[in-house]
Amino acid sequence: MSFSKKTAFFLITAGGSSALMLSKKTGLGQTVKAVRSDIDAIRERDPAAANLLEALTCYSGLHAILLHRIAHFLYEHELPLAPRLVSQLNRFLTGIEIHPAARIGDGFFIDHGAGVVIGETTEVGDNVTLYQGVTLGGTGKETGKRHPTLMDGVTVGAGAKVLGAVKVGENAKIGAGSVVIHDVPANSTVVGNPGRPVRERGRKVGAADIDWTHLPDPVADAMRSLVRRVVELENEFKQAFPEKKEEIDKAQQEGEQALDKVFDYYQEREIKKAGQPKG
Ligand SMILES: CC(C)(COP(=O)(O)OP(=O)(O)OC[C@H]1O[C@@H](n2cnc3c(N)ncnc32)[C@H](O)[C@@H]1OP(=O)(O)O)[C@@H](O)C(=O)NCCC(=O)NCCS
Repeated sequence: MSFSKKTAFFLITAGGSSALMLSKKTGLGQTVKAVRSDIDAIRERDPAAANLLEALTCYSGLHAILLHRIAHFLYEHELPLAPRLVSQLNRFLTGIEIHPAARIGDGFFIDHGAGVVIGETTEVGDNVTLYQGVTLGGTGKETGKRHPTLMDGVTVGAGAKVLGAVKVGENAKIGAGSVVIHDVPANSTVVGNPGRPVRERGRKVGAADIDWTHLPDPVADAMRSLVRRVVELENEFKQAFPEKKEEIDKAQQEGEQALDKVFDYYQEREIKKAGQPKG
């Protein structure tokens, strides 16, 4: 780390460091690592951040997480009133309200930090990004754990509200202005009110599946089982009603021809597809 970086780093962490020195619960090294990752997060995730000094002086989202890390430290050490006072100072200075009890992982970034509210029992993993106007709040009906859990790598778009003790899976994205009240699967994108997935693992949800070559096996298995059961029934029927034998034989033959046509059709498609160049 260069001298100017060291100086800037010292300035921004000085307030919290004196308190942290007294700590036995939270190591100074651990907190300094978290603060460094918060600073790095700005440079990694905001192309507009020109340099370290600009990040340190001009990003209210960074000021908010630094003050929160101090408030959370005081909260963990059960100091009366002081954590809430720091949290209120944070709100006054940045417009961002984070309850001192909220647990926030490394590399946290609030872009365009303003109007963000993070409730008491919120848990946030590493490398999470929030935009302005996000609420990680309660529904007002729950007690105990009543705020969201955001796993690693989650992004929450501007103005989105995530309400209740819902879990947002790893690397999920929540669209701007969404209202999320149910769990969100990992690696998915959720939009709207109430939030619904529009993408899961990079694939559009609800889009027609035209990949006939890779039809799921359970469908083929179900068809095979149905055909087998129909044939068994027909055979029993023939034994019970010998006078109907001719009629049933004819129906069986027609059925087999129809099925053969279907199987031939898919077989031809597979052969054609296999012969086509990839890409
Ligand atoms: C949701 C988001 C992450 C895009 O994700 P994506 O996986 O690329 O999704 P797509 O752009 O392919 O959109 C998928 C569908 O959701 C819709 N959609 C996208 N974002 C939406 C939103 N915020 N609200 C409602 N619908 C939205 C699209 O219109 C599209 O609908 P369609 O399938 O009917 O055409 C993005 O639109 C977003 O909201 N980002 C937040 C950015 C932000 O807060 N910026 C603030 C900067 S100051």
